[in-house]
Amino acid sequence: MTALEKINPSPAGVGGTALYDWDYLVQEDKAHRLIYTDPAIFEAEMTRIFGGTWTYLAHESEIPKVNDFITRRLGLRPLIIVRDAEGKIRALYNRCTHRGTTLCRWDKGNSKSFQCPYHGWNFLNNGRLRGVPWPEGYAADLRDPKYNLAQVPRVESYRGFIFGTLNLEALPLTEHLGPIANVIDEWLDRNPGGKVVVCEANRFRYKGNWKLAYDNSCDGYHVAYSHRSLLETENRFAGENAKGMAYYRNSPDTQAMYMRYTGRGNHFKDKRPNLEKRPGGLWALESAHPGMEHYEAEFIERYGDRAFALLDLAGSEPVNINVFPNLSLLGNHIQVFEPVSVEETNAIWYGTMIVDEDGSLGEEAVTDINALRMRTQEGFPNFGEVDDIANFEQIQRGLMAVEDEWVYMNRGLGVPDRIKTAADGSITAPATDEAFMREHFKEWKRLMKSRTPFAIQREP
Ligand code: FES
Ligand SMILES: [Fe+2]
Repeated sequence: MTALEKINPSPAGVGGTALYDWDYLVQEDKAHRLIYTDPAIFEAEMTRIFGGTWTYLAHESEIPKVNDFITRRLGLRPLIIVRDAEGKIRALYNRCTHRGTTLCRWDKGNSKSFQCPYHGWNFLNNGRLRGVPWPEGYAADLRDPKYNLAQVPRVESYRGFIFGTLNLEALPLTEHLGPIANVIDEWLDRNPGGKVVVCEANRFRYKGNWKLAYDNSCDGYHVAYSHRSLLETENRFAGENAKGMAYYRNSPDTQAMYMRYTGRGNHFKDKRPNLEKRPGGLWALESAHPGMEHYEAEFIERYGDRAFALLDLAGSEPVNINVFPNLSLLGNHIQVFEPVSVEETNAIWYGTMIVDEDGSLGEEAVTDINALRMRTQEGFPNFGEVDDIANFEQIQRGLMAVEDEWVYMNRGLGVPDRIKTAADGSITAPATDEAFMREHFKEWKRLMKSRTPFAIQREP
């Protein structure tokens, strides 16, 4: 038995959520500036969204061994994601139960217990209080579970991706993900053993609301303008054969790509229809980067007939998969959005490597592929993300004009025969449509209005 403590994060009239008319602030075709600028709305989101729905926390490959841990956040809650001494993955609140100090100050490590730097309380990595200095000074029974660390009550993984929620009524994770899980499967299954391992990250922080990044995650409308310099570089190298970013050079809506909304705020942008199904088909789409021809020649020299199939493993998968509210799989990256304040956000691009558990590729090939993956994963964060972040910051500035209240997301809305809804409810539209944004805002609104019970838990 674990002890559950019900929490009520936004009682009516406190924290402000009951003061807002959500149907007014987010309408079918437009959203009010306040949802990006109002600190009370941000505070409500940090529980109703980041907590109210399954939220990505970390990847299992970041804590591969027993007692491994990594520090992360759920909204603004500091967490320790740990594989405890029995191998169970937990999300402990990184907050000492004595006076609230951040318990663990490390980014990651391996430890059976955590000792608070303030007065030395010591906790096992299952969250139980193990001991305190000079316990004879306490008349209280320190075995009371209230002194054990708080934990996220529901933590589940989908194929290595660890999610958590405080919402006791949330669907099981796989059911919640629904059709987007199939797209995640495809993203993983092209890798040997259907696996990737997370490596280090490109880290960005921008002065803008977290939703600006999620609103951009499936946006095919901005590419030709926001990423003009990148596009021109690619066009120069691609010649007549459109590839990668060059899909966007003419009218992107007539290219073989589309966006699809799959429910619960999740969507993906699919450029895979452009892919030629042959060894080297994916590599042929890879963005130009320094040394590319040299690497290719080297692979052909070393691996002969296998070279192009191996190069494909270094190539970026042409799909953006967005899992509301904070996860994007794009190319070979795992991108995570971390809210810092109403007007500040971290956008972190974790690189991924392949593994060769059955030894079928051989160590040399795996090392070569992973080295080249580092090159292919340097491109977009450095030459593309900077364009996006510049826009996010300029939007945040623009939204300071208080009298000009609305932003529009109505591209594609009401155009006959443009948007297709399938029997399973998924919605498919041309690459530049804002259908994905209208849909994820319905989910946002559903969560902001919801009054489902939340809880934390402690070991008994
Ligand atoms: S705050 Fe942690 S031991 Fe006092
Ligand atoms: Fe972009």
